[in-house]
Amino acid sequence: MSINHIFDNNKEWINKKLSIDKDYFKKLAQDQTPEILYIGCSDSRVSAGDLMEVEPGTVFVHRNIANLVPNTDMNSKSVIDYAVTHLDIKHIVVCGHYKCGGIKAAMEKENLGVLNPWLGNIRDVYRLHFDELEALTDLEQRYDRLVELNVAEQCINVLKIPTVQEAIIKKKLQMHGWVFDIKTGQLIDLTLDIMNEFSNSHSKVSSIYRIK
Ligand code: CO
Repeated sequence: MSINHIFDNNKEWINKKLSIDKDYFKKLAQDQTPEILYIGCSDSRVSAGDLMEVEPGTVFVHRNIANLVPNTDMNSKSVIDYAVTHLDIKHIVVCGHYKCGGIKAAMEKENLGVLNPWLGNIRDVYRLHFDELEALTDLEQRYDRLVELNVAEQCINVLKIPTVQEAIIKKKLQMHGWVFDIKTGQLIDLTLDIMNEFSNSHSKVSSIYRIK
């Protein structure tokens, strides 16, 4: 496949947009005012804008293998901090997906070289939820569940960021954990209790991670 067809596609896309609104790119160039930060997987089948069917300018996006927000990862932390502090994002979504290759790789015992420390973050999630996961004898079910538990853990990782905490306390920001079911196209809200856990001073999340 030649890569040149991408440029032909781009021309077609420009024409399509201009035929609907001749000022489309003039408006696009002005500014961005997204209300959602989407943290998802790099998987080529899970393209954020498409599955939410939203126009450019609506969603600020960060993607990496298996939608992780590792504690010392300045890339994801910078994206989140910028989105909260400068774009005044109202919602942060961590969105995993079933059939995630990163999650599958973390469940296997292969040495994947430079990927090992990255996958180690997912293996930490497995260890934290070892009993629940090992109790699932159906491997497909275990795989799906690790996808969901990983989303929940990454939401907690987002919550550790002081600017995120401040915005939640000021009721300017909400956290959401979602999964994209690649087998049906459906977006599923995991309805995580993360906001309540953060505000309840007796919860583990709050007592361990809340800064003030
Ligand atoms: Co994936």
